[in-house]
Amino acid sequence: MKTLTITRPDDWHIHVRNGAILKTVLPHTARQFARAIIMPNLKPPVCTVDQALLYRDEILEAVPQGADFTPLMTLYLTSSTTEAEIKKAAESQHIHAFKLYPAGATTHSDSGVSDIKAAYPLFAAMEKHQIPLLIHGEVTDEQCDIFDREKAFIGKYLTDIVEQFPGLRVVLEHVTTAEAVQFVEAANQNIAATITPQHLLYNRNALLVGGIRPHYYCLPIIKRERHRLALVAAATSGNPKFFLGTDSAPHLTNLKESSCGCAGCYSAHAALEMYAEVFEAADSLDKLEGFASFYGADFYRLPRNSSTITLQKTSWNVPSSYGENGILITPLKANESVNWKTQ
Ligand code: NCD
Ligand code: ZN
Repeated sequence: MKTLTITRPDDWHIHVRNGAILKTVLPHTARQFARAIIMPNLKPPVCTVDQALLYRDEILEAVPQGADFTPLMTLYLTSSTTEAEIKKAAESQHIHAFKLYPAGATTHSDSGVSDIKAAYPLFAAMEKHQIPLLIHGEVTDEQCDIFDREKAFIGKYLTDIVEQFPGLRVVLEHVTTAEAVQFVEAANQNIAATITPQHLLYNRNALLVGGIRPHYYCLPIIKRERHRLALVAAATSGNPKFFLGTDSAPHLTNLKESSCGCAGCYSAHAALEMYAEVFEAADSLDKLEGFASFYGADFYRLPRNSSTITLQKTSWNVPSSYGENGILITPLKANESVNWKTQ
């Protein structure tokens, strides 16, 4: 049987929620990934170091016995974030970044930043204290078409942020367009991007052809095929600016299968396996380890993992849902097969 052994990977962008959902989803991530950057968009959001440390404890309690998993915490940037909190975060061994959500851009972003220029003093403090800024890069202008919102964000905000703060490490999260790939490639070495499995596997036909399929709905929304191809080329290029971030974002099935369904794809159950499918289809399995296990750690200035994980080329069926006792989460590729399996 064909197998592939790589250094144990990390997930540089994930939503694990809290309470019962956390207990359902965390074992999936802890099984494959040694570390994960935990998004702070809870309700209410995780805005301070003290809140993040409490959330970290809750996550650690959900790690299955025997699993080796470390949550890397982030703070939600708001207009009331202070320089003192930024300094405190940078000095904490458990806090690794701030997350900027433009207000209204996505799930639980209503506490986000509505005037990005007004946050420049905070970006300056992050640059000074050497803590990365993670960006949900979409404009929220009502007039802007949803498929153009990432590209518009780059022109309207990101280009200037990168110019004004050349020493600030920035991750443009879950890139979805050829324009984002080009921007990151051309920018200085402090600018990187994460790429999700859904944006590598699917174009917008998956969401809309033959019926509306809410489990492919996430933000930024999946785009047309030429963008997917640009993302696959970036992920498999060996360019260390692009690394793995699943953006696995669990929502209860009934909240997605609704007349106003929420944004987010659940992928933690088979994340590495889905990336392996993409890299194999692009004849680039030799590039998977850098993307999944090296470049993110290097960007965050953390040691690379020393243990390994083995994938087997064998097909298995994804169940229709995960969870029990009222928790029902429909995963990506529900009732479909996946061609790789981690041991
Ligand atoms: C995320 C969520 O549900 O928290 N949803 C999503 O569609 N990706 C938020 C986010 O990362 O935008
Ligand atoms: Zn996300």
